[in-house]
Amino acid sequence: MSETITIALTKGRILKETLPLLAQAGIAPLDDVSKSRKLIFDTTAAGVRLVIIRGTDVPTYVRHGAADVGVVGKDVLLEHGAEGLYEPLDLGIARCRLMTAGPVGWQQDGARIRVATKFVNIARDFFARKGVHADVIKLYGAMELAPMMDLADLIVDIVDTGNTLRANGMEPIDEIASVSSRLIVNKAAMRSHHSGIKALIDDLSTAVEAQT
Ligand code: ADP
Ligand code: PRP
Ligand code: MG
Repeated sequence: MSETITIALTKGRILKETLPLLAQAGIAPLDDVSKSRKLIFDTTAAGVRLVIIRGTDVPTYVRHGAADVGVVGKDVLLEHGAEGLYEPLDLGIARCRLMTAGPVGWQQDGARIRVATKFVNIARDFFARKGVHADVIKLYGAMELAPMMDLADLIVDIVDTGNTLRANGMEPIDEIASVSSRLIVNKAAMRSHHSGIKALIDDLSTAVEAQT
């Protein structure tokens, strides 16, 4: 039986904040991840390797057991569902909020609203709970553009400083969820690789506590 543990990391801003936590847990990639075109990295820890992929693909790799463990934004977990996954640790990094937002002073007039977002499941669920009839339009980025172009009335997007909204004549309305990055673990791997994964969770918890 292989004792290798594979960790799927979200590339982009989460990766930059994950590497210092992993380093504190004694896990550092052997190549420079920002320069290399590789997707799989051996590390300074024997039997631990990293794969670096899009956040939306991380739950898929971990759910199917192709990776044992992953690091991903709570927004992605809420959108894609956490079936087959444990979520044992909040890493406290890449903190932001999932919010609805609209043009400054926007008021609903009419029975239905149009909502542009890449978080279509979260948006449908949120407006259904509020009893608002929302037609949800899927976009892959630059959601803030949609109301300006009259593609949508509102958006559901990540808000951190609020600068992107302000720069585009919009304001936040309702907070849907508070977001940070989470450690996720494949349920079967938690049993079959228990000692290695338990040690990883403990070491990362210590690193998270040290950072706050
Ligand atoms: P992409 O937008 O290409 O998916 P990002 O690196 O921008 O990649 O976002 C990855 C994750 O980082 C998101 O799923 C979310 O959890 C978090 N995130 C996104 N935007 C911000 C932000 N402005 N501030 C803090 N965290 C963010
Ligand atoms: C994210 C998010 C918002 C912005 C919010 O975009 O989709 O547009 O950050 O942050 P702020 O409130 O601090 O302005 P990102 O920079 O990741 O661009 P992209 O995902 O569209 O490439
Ligand atoms: Mg982004």
